[in-house]
Amino acid sequence: MKLSVIGLGYLGAVHAPCMAELGHEVVGVDIDQAKIDTLSSGQAPFYEPGLPEILKSATASGRLEFTTNMSAVADTTVHFIAVGTPQKQGSHSADMTYVNAAIDALIPFLKPGDLVVGKSTVPVGTAARLAAKIRAAAPGAELAWNPEFLREGFAVQDTISPDRLVFGVAPEPTAGDWSAQTLRKVYAKALSEHTPLVVTDYATAELVKISANAFLATKISFINAISEITEVTGANITELADAIGYDTRIGRRFLNAGIGFGGGCLPKDIRAFVARAEELGRGESLNFLKEIDTINLRRRQHLVEMTIEALGGRAFQKRVAILGLAFKPESDDIRDSPALDIAVQLHGLGATVTATDPHAIHNAQQKHPQLSFVDSLAKAVEHADIVLLLTEWNQYRDMRPEELAPLVANKNIIDGRNVLDPTQWRRGGWNFQSLGRP
Ligand code: UDX
Repeated sequence: MKLSVIGLGYLGAVHAPCMAELGHEVVGVDIDQAKIDTLSSGQAPFYEPGLPEILKSATASGRLEFTTNMSAVADTTVHFIAVGTPQKQGSHSADMTYVNAAIDALIPFLKPGDLVVGKSTVPVGTAARLAAKIRAAAPGAELAWNPEFLREGFAVQDTISPDRLVFGVAPEPTAGDWSAQTLRKVYAKALSEHTPLVVTDYATAELVKISANAFLATKISFINAISEITEVTGANITELADAIGYDTRIGRRFLNAGIGFGGGCLPKDIRAFVARAEELGRGESLNFLKEIDTINLRRRQHLVEMTIEALGGRAFQKRVAILGLAFKPESDDIRDSPALDIAVQLHGLGATVTATDPHAIHNAQQKHPQLSFVDSLAKAVEHADIVLLLTEWNQYRDMRPEELAPLVANKNIIDGRNVLDPTQWRRGGWNFQSLGRP
């Protein structure tokens, strides 16, 4: 099939080569010329495991092209909208500027028989509004909503072999059936491997995505709230999570307590969901998500306070080593990163912050040039008064107390992700603390 992918950020830049890998002919469109140049040369514009390989093989196959020129989509029939919906400045709602602009730019090139497929996370009601607009401006073209559930760090795998597919289609049976049929062809490989498929209406498809993220955020804040109780009772949050996680109704995943969630999705999605519920007159239904957000942000504050206490009451002129800047491992994404937030707060309190990360230094430096960045764990911890593990990259999980001991000024460490073994570090003479574990 001939497909276009409009918007080449964390979502589109993965979706486009993955679709080409599945055998489709794909054109990727973005307004950013630098990004197009990078992608056209077969390079990934951000760190994502497996993406460089798939980009190279897809561009070499001749089935994948990138351009800033929207007219290139005229030759394709299925158009994925993959632009961002960030949090609006000064508000909690989603900024729809990019989605609206993408649809406006696409409409002049639509022909009868084309299918526009929304993948961006949008406020419920968007698809119905856009479908009406497309039908009025381009008769014979249809819209479907096909939310994306990919996780950064596993984006290629999640796109080629998703754990489920959701198609939100038009309410009219003929249009709806045709749209679902078209998407079945796009995703024929995944469907042949028995990937569960839910064909539904627009509103449900939109809500599935945002509800999934709200649920994941709730799970993380739940365990973090309980960890505040384990902290004052001497209980152990990791053992508690293991024990409740054995209940298959609960499950162990997303019950890792620590400094909480960040990234380009969970934080802004729960805020946008609350804002949309309020617009719909149902604010009270999602009020609990405000508390989920508060619990999450409180974790960062808590770690800052623990650090000051471990430093004897003040951070001023103390040397703080920060391990990890990305919002999670296997990503260079620093959007709403708890680690970076903590680094910036401690710098603001007068600490001498030295930060490192295997892949996120460049992005962090651009956003916060006031911090000092070094390219290795050893350099980061040199003469440190305290070491903070904030993103659980494997090299930080695997570090050993005896390796760090000769480098630091004081053997203080806080494990913000509960991945180190307290006994091992204490045995090495370290003042070791983590979140929610004795
Ligand atoms: C998320 C959803 O998982 C994905 O389905 C959706 O499409 C986009 O949003 P992502 O933003 O890549 O994906 O990150 P995710 O793996 O969900 O992690 C989010 C944050 O939660 C990270 O900061 C992570 O460190 C944190 N987290 C995760 C915890 O603090 N504890 C956990 O147990 C799990």
